Amino acid sequence: MNNQPREGRELPASAKNGDPIFQPLVFRNLRVKNRIFRSNISGKFDGDDGSLSQTRVNWETLFARGGAGAIISSYVPVLIAGRIIAGYATIHDDAFIEAWRVVGESVHRYGAKYILQLSHSGRQMDLPGIHNQRRRSLSSTDRAESLHGFLCRRMTKTDIRRTVDAFAQGARRAREAGLDGVELHGANGYLITQFLSSGINDRDDVYGGPLSNRARFLLDIIRAIRTEVGDDYHVQVKISAVDHNNVIPWEGKGNSLEDTIRVCRWCEAAGADAIHVSMGSLFPHPLNPPGDFDFETITATYDAMIYAGVNTFRNYLIFRYRALRPIFRWIWFRMKQLYPVEGVGADAARAIREAVSIPVICTGGFQDAALVRCYLADGWLDGVSMARSLIANPDLPLVWAQGHDLPERPCTFCNKCLLNAPKNLLGCYELDRFDGDWDRMVAEIHKIYETKPVLRIPEDPGPVGGVAL
Ligand SMILES: Cc1cc2nc3c(=O)[nH]c(=O)nc-3n(C[C@H](O)[C@H](O)[C@H](O)COP(=O)(O)O)c2cc1C
Ligand code: SF4
Repeated sequence: MNNQPREGRELPASAKNGDPIFQPLVFRNLRVKNRIFRSNISGKFDGDDGSLSQTRVNWETLFARGGAGAIISSYVPVLIAGRIIAGYATIHDDAFIEAWRVVGESVHRYGAKYILQLSHSGRQMDLPGIHNQRRRSLSSTDRAESLHGFLCRRMTKTDIRRTVDAFAQGARRAREAGLDGVELHGANGYLITQFLSSGINDRDDVYGGPLSNRARFLLDIIRAIRTEVGDDYHVQVKISAVDHNNVIPWEGKGNSLEDTIRVCRWCEAAGADAIHVSMGSLFPHPLNPPGDFDFETITATYDAMIYAGVNTFRNYLIFRYRALRPIFRWIWFRMKQLYPVEGVGADAARAIREAVSIPVICTGGFQDAALVRCYLADGWLDGVSMARSLIANPDLPLVWAQGHDLPERPCTFCNKCLLNAPKNLLGCYELDRFDGDWDRMVAEIHKIYETKPVLRIPEDPGPVGGVAL
């Protein structure tokens, strides 16, 4: 393993000199106090118009208070048409800058940094909401999304230009809001993946065909952001190390690790400050988040999606009826034996880290400090990002700092939080972690939603039709 210092980034101290998890990570434009990143977690916190709620502020603050060095936001669309679910906050409008400032300031109070994930769904959605439900969403292709069957249309050059600019404006708003950086969601099947992936992109213009053309959309976005925010603002890219797009058996394999390594090098050359490594060219994917798939939970929530895509009714029947479930189980889990749950992307992250000189953060199945310490000390990664382990135990970093490698009630990677997310409140739904006490579980989930907002009487816009009765 390569554990030699490299220019431009601070290597983890060896275990002898202190715990590498709690060494600061210095990026070109950002310093994070430790190696723990709260990975992106979307949930229904916000307004239907993309406005932010107190619940979101409470949620993000929870992890800053728990000791994470940086919070990477949920999926934040740069355009309303790029939403995956109505009720997720957006950054498509200058009017939201002040609210994002509140989120950032609340997180900063605990010495944590806040990185906003700039996103566009393209053809991959969950619940399109009234804004998007009767439209074909934008994509690199005309082919419907492979899991739920969302319909889409191939973007024109004008669409591409407008969308690139929307990403740049999103970065400008994040900077104006005092946030510490942005992340481009180039992973897991959303719009940027739809251009990158050879399993999805079937264009024959300068944005399709060879890898250099498929990467053009992402690289255009990075350059446009640099033009808009300058060279001294943190910009990182979340990317799928391996697509495994053929998880849907009739789809092409998509990009290999070698392809992704080349894209990461180009991202660095275009001005990216860090790479955040994930897996899989759709979301969810058996390798992201890795772990279980609970048919009872999906049956209880997927009904909300029945009319959303052309495959959703078929999928609902497969999830609902026990006799049909083995079909999905075979499709979903046949790749599982290729990777461990814990550190699912670590090997790939190491290969990417070898090829670039900017820091590499890795996501997927981290929870045990002993394992994380080894990866850091041996130079596989520069930082880990965690979602589910922190949903289960938001103060896990403090638990680690106290010398315990695992929390008392660890996350089981059951994925019930994920499968509940489109329809229900966000939180841990693993009943065993609450000794089978449903009420205790619900009370825990509810904590961040108990905002008790101060209500106000709306401003009077004046008499209707100029007539006051
Ligand atoms: C409920 C839930 C919501 C998520 N939302 C996002 C998201 O908005 N953007 C994103 O890039 N990844 C999202 N992810 C993926 C996580 O950020 C993370 O990369 C993945 O779960 C693997 O890490 P983990 O094993 O620590 O959970 C989500 C995961 C979960 C469980
Ligand atoms: S529901 Fe709880 S235990 Fe299950 S994966 Fe989510 S956070 Fe972990």
